[in-house]
Amino acid sequence: MRTYRVAILGCRSRGTAAARAYHAHPRCQIVGLCDLVRERVDTLGDELGIPDRFTDLDELMRGGAPDIVAIPTATEFHHELCMRVLAYGAHIDVEKPMCSTLEQADEVLAEANRKGFRIAVHHQGRCSPSMRAAQRAIREGRIGAIRYLTGTCKGYYGGYGLMNIGTHIVNNMIGLVGHCRSVTALGLTAGDPVTPADVIPSAGGMGTVCGERLTALLAFGDNITGTLVQHRYARVDNTAYGLEIYGEEGRIFWKSTAGWLLPTPHYVPDGVHDHWEALSPVYADTFDPSGRADASDYAYVDEFVRALDEDHEHECSGGEGLHVMETLMGVLESAAYGRRVMLPQTDRRHPLLHWREVHGMDAPASMPRDYREWLEAEDRRLGRPPAQETA
Ligand SMILES: NC(=O)c1ccc[n+]([C@@H]2O[C@H](COP(=O)([O-])OP(=O)(O)OC[C@H]3O[C@@H](n4cnc5c(N)ncnc54)[C@H](O)[C@@H]3O)[C@@H](O)[C@H]2O)c1
Repeated sequence: MRTYRVAILGCRSRGTAAARAYHAHPRCQIVGLCDLVRERVDTLGDELGIPDRFTDLDELMRGGAPDIVAIPTATEFHHELCMRVLAYGAHIDVEKPMCSTLEQADEVLAEANRKGFRIAVHHQGRCSPSMRAAQRAIREGRIGAIRYLTGTCKGYYGGYGLMNIGTHIVNNMIGLVGHCRSVTALGLTAGDPVTPADVIPSAGGMGTVCGERLTALLAFGDNITGTLVQHRYARVDNTAYGLEIYGEEGRIFWKSTAGWLLPTPHYVPDGVHDHWEALSPVYADTFDPSGRADASDYAYVDEFVRALDEDHEHECSGGEGLHVMETLMGVLESAAYGRRVMLPQTDRRHPLLHWREVHGMDAPASMPRDYREWLEAEDRRLGRPPAQETA
């Protein structure tokens, strides 16, 4: 069996998680770690005992000759780095969201297809042990046919939360019920429908966004609908993020770390219809829980190995990542124009930048990258006292 040569481009938090997962996989060998900051390469190299260390992409590609390049850098660099890696030629594992605009994601996918390389987008929740358990329960018919889905958020500012967390939720949804056909969304800032003046650059380099509170209705095939909520709350709460899958005979409550099944479609706190059963997580066959790799990242890597072995797309492929972006852009466009948006869009321009353009406005002024400072800037813009959120 072939061993895949893997390079990690970006060695901070997500690069560390990716490196641990590839390092732990018996079919992968890390042949290069690269970061612009030498200290980060060394910290990760020392942890994993990897001698091949670089601070320049070109040296990494020439020196390591990788089969797979993981790109766990900030979203604003995904497009450029994917294109540079594809120029050398390698399969790519790019962090989510795939890019900042549809035009960028289209270009990456077209180039990968042209050169015969696979793109996987690091939405590891779709391969997580808790999602595998949910998928198995659904396959076994334990909740019957799916009726609708509800995705919740962590409480980040809506537009930022959409790009950061909504991307995982939408990818999980389309993994369960197929592609989204249309989006209808409501976007509120300071309690009023968003205006072109509320279009702002996202914190963390995730493109252009709007809306403190976004509420979207997604239409899938087979009469299935879903709701997606990305609302700014006073406190960011990681436990609030999840997905409920409503079936004709039962329900599943999925979180990235665990899943539960209610063997009746309607929860009633009556001692009969209120018993949630914990689903047993389904781990990748070769996963070692005593190691440092995260189980979901490992399962995602395991899926990439299988996909490349069998010459098919990763479950979280570039095509799926692109459709996630179409859905996110659909939410923003619908919130802006107050009308239903059919997917996939024929107009690939960023809907919010275009919205400003038609109102005679330039691109919005820059804002801080750091989420807390960004919120403070946004609150200043809205004439409020500084934000009290905790992240
Ligand atoms: N999948 C998940 O669960 C999850 C969770 C959090 C963040 N993310 C995503 O991960 C990405 C950011 O990850 P992070 O928090 O580790 O980012 P980060 O910005 O903290 O770290 C990125 C690293 O990449 C390096 N880098 C940037 N450009 C480079 C280049 N040209 N060559 C070499 N190194 C370069 C930086 O120096 C930095 O060390 C974002 O896209 C974000 O959306 C995903």
